[in-house]
Amino acid sequence: MLNIGVLISGRGSNLQALIDASERGEIPAKIAVVISDRADAFGLERARKHKIDAVHVNPKDYKDKNTYELEIVKVLKNHQVGLVCLAGYMRIVGQVLLEHYQGKMINIHPALLPSFPGLHAQKQAVDHGVKISGATVHFVDEGCDTGPIIIQASVPVLDDDTEETLSARILDEEHKIYPQAAKMFAEGKLKIEGRKVKSLSNNL
Ligand code: GRF
Repeated sequence: MLNIGVLISGRGSNLQALIDASERGEIPAKIAVVISDRADAFGLERARKHKIDAVHVNPKDYKDKNTYELEIVKVLKNHQVGLVCLAGYMRIVGQVLLEHYQGKMINIHPALLPSFPGLHAQKQAVDHGVKISGATVHFVDEGCDTGPIIIQASVPVLDDDTEETLSARILDEEHKIYPQAAKMFAEGKLKIEGRKVKSLSNNL
């Protein structure tokens, strides 16, 4: 069975969606470890509640990004992780994590990429006046929210939406598509071809 490692920095509602889907048997994988760069991330408590190893790796304890990421890789390898899910992990992934996990590391972003990458994606969408936004799960590459797209879900942007109301509507979709993407990966159904991700289930 595939072991998943989840990297977080905060609340961890997407982590919770992954845990719940895995416990319900909807993903042929188990969440083996949760790693946070912040000691106070609520997601660490969620993990402990489900008897999942919860590890705080403090970037301040390491001399640079590479040594910090080497420690994360060590923890992931100790748990024989085959898929890394970034779930509200507020750092740009560096070369060490990419060297070890590119093609096996995915992220969720609260916009329809390539629109509105980076921080405050929902506010960017409201401010821009788009009529549709959504969520994207993608493989992680060296850019910020630029990697090959696995799955997207759209939501309407309403005239009176604020960053908060749009965020809540998008979050509901995030909690559906992140487990779906993890399931497709776990079942070996995702194939990266250049920028595109082919979902082999469509071809069966
Ligand atoms: C989500 O909106 C996710 O798309 C973004 O950060 C937020 C994390 O929320 N990358 P949570 O910690 O999963 O609740």
